[in-house]
Amino acid sequence: MFDQRATERSSSTSPHLDRKRVYTSQYNAMVRAETLPGRVMVLDTTLRDGEQTPGVALSADDKVRIAQALDDMGVDVIEAGFPAASSGEQEAVRKIASSVSRSRVCGLARCNRKDIDVLLNCGLDYVHTFIATSDIHLKHKLKMDRSQVKARAIDSIEYAKSHGLTVEFSCEDATRTDLEFLKEMHVAVQGAGVDKINVPDTVGTISPPAMEYLIKELMTVTRVPISVHCHDDFGLAVANSIAAVRQGAQQVHVTVNGLGERAGNAALEETILALMAFFDVETSVDTRKIGPASKLVSRLTGYPIPGNKAIVGANAFAHESGIHVHGVLGDPSTYEAFGPELVGVQRNIVIGKHTGAHSVKEKLGEYGIDLTDEQVAQIVDKVKKLADSGKGVDDAELVALASHIVGQREAKNVRLKEFAVFTGINTTPTAVVSIEVNGEKKTGTSIGIGPVDAAINAIKSVMGNDISLEEYRLSAITGGSDSLCEVTVRVARCGGKKMMSIGKAVGTDIVQTSVDSTMEALDRLYCRKKEQ
Ligand code: KIV
Ligand code: ZN
Repeated sequence: MFDQRATERSSSTSPHLDRKRVYTSQYNAMVRAETLPGRVMVLDTTLRDGEQTPGVALSADDKVRIAQALDDMGVDVIEAGFPAASSGEQEAVRKIASSVSRSRVCGLARCNRKDIDVLLNCGLDYVHTFIATSDIHLKHKLKMDRSQVKARAIDSIEYAKSHGLTVEFSCEDATRTDLEFLKEMHVAVQGAGVDKINVPDTVGTISPPAMEYLIKELMTVTRVPISVHCHDDFGLAVANSIAAVRQGAQQVHVTVNGLGERAGNAALEETILALMAFFDVETSVDTRKIGPASKLVSRLTGYPIPGNKAIVGANAFAHESGIHVHGVLGDPSTYEAFGPELVGVQRNIVIGKHTGAHSVKEKLGEYGIDLTDEQVAQIVDKVKKLADSGKGVDDAELVALASHIVGQREAKNVRLKEFAVFTGINTTPTAVVSIEVNGEKKTGTSIGIGPVDAAINAIKSVMGNDISLEEYRLSAITGGSDSLCEVTVRVARCGGKKMMSIGKAVGTDIVQTSVDSTMEALDRLYCRKKEQ
């Protein structure tokens, strides 16, 4: 019988999509299959298959941070790792099991007693065990015949069950396995007491209609929940996962940002949003936590999110063309399938070649800059000329252009008078700054986790608690240790109505350049404060 604990979470929380704010095609409703479940469980394998992404290796502490984000997001099951792989992996899995409170934690094990013992030793109560079943794998990898594979699966499942584990079983390379043998395996493992059967498209070789056919066939012999695990070799992992769910699969294996072996796995964000938005299939995931989790995973794995990545890419809710910006500002449904707040990210109006007056007005409005139509037209003209010569304009440059057009201020409101920072080995980085604010000199000191942090904290100690650092961006302009760096800083004044400001500086010293860009942003902020 299927272990009820595996569905506990799904039936207890349900932060649904607000249907009124999802603007997907009405034709989706017309192909809603009878077999589609109302709810699916989500098994996240970012920490196992995701970590198999070439070049990705996570420390135990980083894995715990990701697991906590997944737990907080609401996934039903976290596949925490492959304990038999190494002692480091065992330590990480152990730590995750004790630091996650709501999701169930499982580990991967090959179909052998030793792997299962190692997993039990990590304190887990859920195993995902697998053995390959396709003729290709049997011949070239396992050098076993079908009956040996079946016997190994049965023995491992019975062993795991006798130790009280919840058992999910996968026929590896299921989508290239002979259908009669695959069915035979499903029947056999159910006889051994398996709780869930996962169907992996290990090499990403199936098409969505074929996945529908396969799952439909497997449903005829499978009484426990079917799960699906799709790889993206043809860019169809999400489509294949949806196809499986359409035919009754009750669980999807996913990874944050679509990390995973080779081309990766079905992306959590895309699979969940598609299931919910197209077919009203519920999950226990709080979609508003997706954006922050995606950023966390990208930062800790060092694996960048492509700008055009669906749902979580920087451009997923970015609008540049004048026509689109005009539409979105009138009503977001014109050019957005759903609002970015649904997945915890922000809409971004981008200034570029296709920019129109609406974008410039809106963008500058974010920084409290109000220009006449004529001034806006001048900026649009300038932006287009710059774009034609191959140069983009970021927020800081747009604000600088606007300041230039309205006329330079003569005197600065916020001026750096003195600045020193102390740092070294076994020394807490400490900074001291003196700043003249509207003619009055103030001094502040602070520590930080590094010299830049200490310097910015010291500036904040002078300028007051209502100043917050919203964004800090550092990039190297040239190569080498004498490289020029560019720092962009976005600050906000939060007391009363929130006011935003931005500053940008270029220099050879990262700390000094960070201070310069922060001072520029603050000066702009104080200039507006004075005008208001
Ligand atoms: O892709 C795959 O087949 C896997 C198995 C371990 C289930 O990741
Ligand atoms: Zn896989």
